[in-house]
Amino acid sequence: MIPPKPPARPDRVSLWRYMRLFRADILSAQPARLYHAWMAEFRTPFFRSYLCNQPALVDLVLRQRPDAFPKSARVSEGLRPLLGRSVFVTNGETWARQRRIIDPAFEGGRLRDTFPAMVAAGQGAVDRLAPVADGVPREIEFHTSHAAADVIFRTLFSIPIENETAARVFEAFRTHQRSQPVLNLAAFVPLPRWFPRFHRRRTRTTARTIRALITTLTDARKTQITAGRAPDDLATKIMTTPDPETGACFTTREMVDQVAIFFLAGHETSASALAWALYLLALHPDWQDRVAEEAQATFGDAPPDFRDMARLRVARDVFRETLRLYPPVPMMVRETTGPERFRDRDIEPGAQVVISPWHLHRHTRLWDDPDAFDPARYATENGAACLRSAYIPFSAGQRVCPGAGFAMIEGPLLLAMLVRAYRFTPVAARPAMPVAHLTVRGRDGIWLKIARR
Ligand code: HEM
Repeated sequence: MIPPKPPARPDRVSLWRYMRLFRADILSAQPARLYHAWMAEFRTPFFRSYLCNQPALVDLVLRQRPDAFPKSARVSEGLRPLLGRSVFVTNGETWARQRRIIDPAFEGGRLRDTFPAMVAAGQGAVDRLAPVADGVPREIEFHTSHAAADVIFRTLFSIPIENETAARVFEAFRTHQRSQPVLNLAAFVPLPRWFPRFHRRRTRTTARTIRALITTLTDARKTQITAGRAPDDLATKIMTTPDPETGACFTTREMVDQVAIFFLAGHETSASALAWALYLLALHPDWQDRVAEEAQATFGDAPPDFRDMARLRVARDVFRETLRLYPPVPMMVRETTGPERFRDRDIEPGAQVVISPWHLHRHTRLWDDPDAFDPARYATENGAACLRSAYIPFSAGQRVCPGAGFAMIEGPLLLAMLVRAYRFTPVAARPAMPVAHLTVRGRDGIWLKIARR
């Protein structure tokens, strides 16, 4: 059974039709040839855009000369009301300084320290599903989103999602995401200069609400740090780490920008991946049983221990395969700063360069049986080679996701805990269809039936 894949559009469409398709969903706005082309050029009256699928080109843009391909200002424009000058939207020296402070918080040793908080969030998710494990169809993204938000609050601020401020931030984020459909369009299609760049009033209001709540949390933490009684979590680590080059720590305002992106980048993505992983396991009950057996054999009836994670190989490969088929960040946009030559073609400065994990991960000239769900593929020669050269769910190079190690513990852990406790089955009348807004989600949600194991 081939997991759901959006239909491609016809090869040639007008710009306006393209923009309309784009607004509905980035994935079905693309032609089928992107699954087998090494590079595709899009010419419009306003801009040129190059989607790069050839591993050597992806490597050039992300790893070899990333400074020549910064993030485009258009991406940050849509996100600025919420994220200010967070690490996700900055470039150059500002960005480099922010990464020098943030990266140490996500190093291996620190992940071990955050593990108990992740287990507590996993247990919370297991408990929340108990009343709905009755075989009635349920929308699962709602639950994975709740679980991923809980992980972020517990690891960052040592508070559960039930905490009043945490719950208000979570609710405000949901409202915010509903209020800004223009974001994609502005971020991915470089609109002509005269096109109105409005941030809807509601978007600005919810962004202000979220930032005010995060400021409350950050101010309170600053007070605790000064008094020497702050918990040893990610927020304390980031707020007390000086830049090794200048010796300066983040100001409270800078920290608010970073917390906003940790919440957005860390919670949307993990929620999407976990929901698709459960959906894929529902479609493949043999793999679901293997995940459950492995979890039972590894944890027994005890709470998971950090050392167990190395033994959760099936859960890890299932999660890896989910990130291949449904990469939560389906496309990334960069911009050329000078003239370039890609595959014997001259590219002018200011052109848009699109790196698409979605297409790279399903490329017919790279992967064996690219649209099939097969977690065992990583033990084959083709799977292992593609893992090194054509697998970038967390991007690559200097701007690689700082939360990648964190997510690769969180995902398999939550998956194993949920599947150890429950059996997930598909709802025949409600098949899922991927669409990409900020992340890859189900067009009408992701519906599953849940029963106790
Ligand atoms: C399955 C989960 C996740 C996936 C698939 C994912 C994917 C990505 C990708 C593809 C990027 C690069 C985007 C671009 O360059 O345009 C990115 C950046 C980022 N991610 Fe993640 N992410 C995940 C989880 C997390 C978590 C848990 C955190 C933090 C707690 C996080 C924090 C960030 C930050 C701060 C950036 C910006 C880095 C920079 O621009 O230097 N992510 N992520």
